[in-house]
Amino acid sequence: MTTINQKTSSASGVIKFAVLGCGHIGKRHAEMITLNKEAELVALCDAYPKENLGIEKYNVPFFNSIDELLNSNIAIDVVTICTPNGLHAEHSIKALEKKYHVVCEKPMGLTKANCEKIIFKALQVSRNFFCVMQNRYSPPSVWIKEIVDQKVLGEIFMVQLNCYWNRDDRYYKKGGWKGTQELDGGTLFTQFSHFIDIMYWLFGDITNIQAKFKDFTHQNSTDFEDSGFVNFDFINGGMGCINYSTAVATQNLESSITIIGEKGSVKIGGQYMNEVEVCNINGYKMPKLAEANPPNDYGVYKGSAANHHFIIENVIDTIKGRTTATTNALEGLKVVEIIERIYALRDKSVMK
Ligand SMILES: NC(=O)c1ccc[n+]([C@@H]2O[C@H](COP(=O)([O-])OP(=O)(O)OC[C@H]3O[C@@H](n4cnc5c(N)ncnc54)[C@H](O)[C@@H]3O)[C@@H](O)[C@H]2O)c1
Repeated sequence: MTTINQKTSSASGVIKFAVLGCGHIGKRHAEMITLNKEAELVALCDAYPKENLGIEKYNVPFFNSIDELLNSNIAIDVVTICTPNGLHAEHSIKALEKKYHVVCEKPMGLTKANCEKIIFKALQVSRNFFCVMQNRYSPPSVWIKEIVDQKVLGEIFMVQLNCYWNRDDRYYKKGGWKGTQELDGGTLFTQFSHFIDIMYWLFGDITNIQAKFKDFTHQNSTDFEDSGFVNFDFINGGMGCINYSTAVATQNLESSITIIGEKGSVKIGGQYMNEVEVCNINGYKMPKLAEANPPNDYGVYKGSAANHHFIIENVIDTIKGRTTATTNALEGLKVVEIIERIYALRDKSVMK
């Protein structure tokens, strides 16, 4: 029997999870952990009083701070970090210091430097660090990854990522963390990092970035831009762009990727990159894909794919040595670093 941690369960037994941050996505983590036969939810933690969080159904110890949780001596294998973006690095490092594996919601951090500190700590204590990029599990994502890796499209000429969503005052609430520079970090971090992750996963790193940014409708609700046109070259060849906005009125319009390759073209679209709209490749017949899961539904607004059960499964399988992390720490860092490089141009420009 392999000992993971002196206070924790074995690699062959049930994996014990604590969830830090019990908001929208933390509750989804708790639910997915509870539904997995090889997982056990052992603690919840949030800075808010328990009564205000809608977590009554979980009969597990509750703590009001990460320090109380980590000093509680409860047997834990994995801490999942579901707090605001700007706290991910600090919280991940604290959990790693206690020798717990960490699952961190996207984005991994708000700076490359913070992500490097997480990776250093994870390596130092020999624990796993998992990033949550659940869109990789959507059937169109799994399919396009396979055909890009197998070079079915040939050389890649152009990639266009369009992310046009609605985020208005129903989403940005006064006094909340969303919309703040310090805890949210920007539209590319909070809304669109999943799509930047898919682009990086498929085509690799980018260079020669040019960009323009604009704040159309969020002067009173966020500290940053709501829209941008960004273009670049891929280091592996070809060029690409990200066109994005959260200023779309009333509801999300689309999240799509259009790929023009030497042997054909593909467009994956829908509200959250969930449908293959075009597949025109010389001599290739598109297979029938499984239905994508619906988006996370937060009432008036919708988010990315509801695939978190795959994340919990992958964490358990990796800890038990059956597979490797779907999104590892270096990939999490690269997404943050790409966004940081794009935003360096925003911070140099005068945004009107
Ligand atoms: N993977 C996805 O598709 C997805 C979807 C939504 C959100 N997220 C990410 O999940 C994270 C949380 O987002 P959310 O929408 O659930 O936000 P939320 O505001 O609903 O929840 C955050 C929770 O963290 C708690 N919190 C804040 N500071 C804390 C602290 N110091 N210690 C303990 N708890 C603290 C808050 O009280 C709140 O309950 C963000 O990083 C976000 O980017 C990911």
